Amino acid sequence: MDSIELLLTRQSSPQLVAPAPDNTALDTILKAGMRVPDHGGLTPWHFTIVAGNGLQKLSDIFVSAFKSKGVEQAKLDKAAKMPFRAPLIIVVSTRISEHEKVPKQEQIISAGCCVHAMQMAAFALGYGAIWRTGELAYNTEVKQALAIKPSDEIVGYLYLGTPAKTFTKKPSKNYTRLVSYL
Ligand SMILES: Cc1cc2nc3c(=O)[nH]c(=O)nc-3n(C[C@H](O)[C@H](O)[C@H](O)COP(=O)(O)O)c2cc1C
Repeated sequence: MDSIELLLTRQSSPQLVAPAPDNTALDTILKAGMRVPDHGGLTPWHFTIVAGNGLQKLSDIFVSAFKSKGVEQAKLDKAAKMPFRAPLIIVVSTRISEHEKVPKQEQIISAGCCVHAMQMAAFALGYGAIWRTGELAYNTEVKQALAIKPSDEIVGYLYLGTPAKTFTKKPSKNYTRLVSYL
C-alpha cells in the first residue's frame, strides 16, 4: 500500500477475528511502534502482548478489578468478554522517566504515537485493529496486575486481528474549520 494512501484511508475495525497477525507481521507492527517521535530518545513506552492464554488472564484481571469496585454482574460479564473481541491485544503503557526537558505529557504523547503507528502497520499489512481504552485503562488494580507502575499510564489496548467483515470506507473529514492561518 502506498504510504499516502495508508495515511488517508486508515480506519479502525471494531469487529476482529482470527487469524491474528502472524509472527512476521507482529514483528513489523512492533518495529513500527518503536519508530515514533521520541523527545530525548527516552523510549517512554512498554508493549504487553496478550494472545492465547493471555486473553483469559486479561479477562480475569478485568473481572477482578471490577469485582473490587463492587460493580453489578452485567458489567462483570461484559468485562469478562472484552479481551475476546480480538485474537491479539497489545497493551501500550508508558515508562515515564524524570527528565528536565521532556515533561510527562510529551512522553505520554510518544506512547500514544506507538498505538497509532502499530495500527497503521497492521492496516498496511491487511489486518484490522482498534484502539480502545475505557475505565479499565485507568484502573489501579489492572495496572498492578500488568506490572505497570502507579506513576505510569495505560494509553491504550490495541486490539488486532482480521476484520470480521469488509467495513465500508469512511469518508474523509474536512479540515477547513479546524485550520487557521496566522
Ligand atoms: C485514546 C483513545 C481511546 C479510545 N477508546 C475507545 C474505546 O474505548 N472504545 C471505542 O469503541 N473506541 C475508542 N476509541 C476510538 C476508536 O479507536 C476509533 O478511532 C474510532 O472508533 C473512530 O474510528 P476510526 O479510527 O476508523 O476513525 C479510542 C480512540 C483513542 C484515540
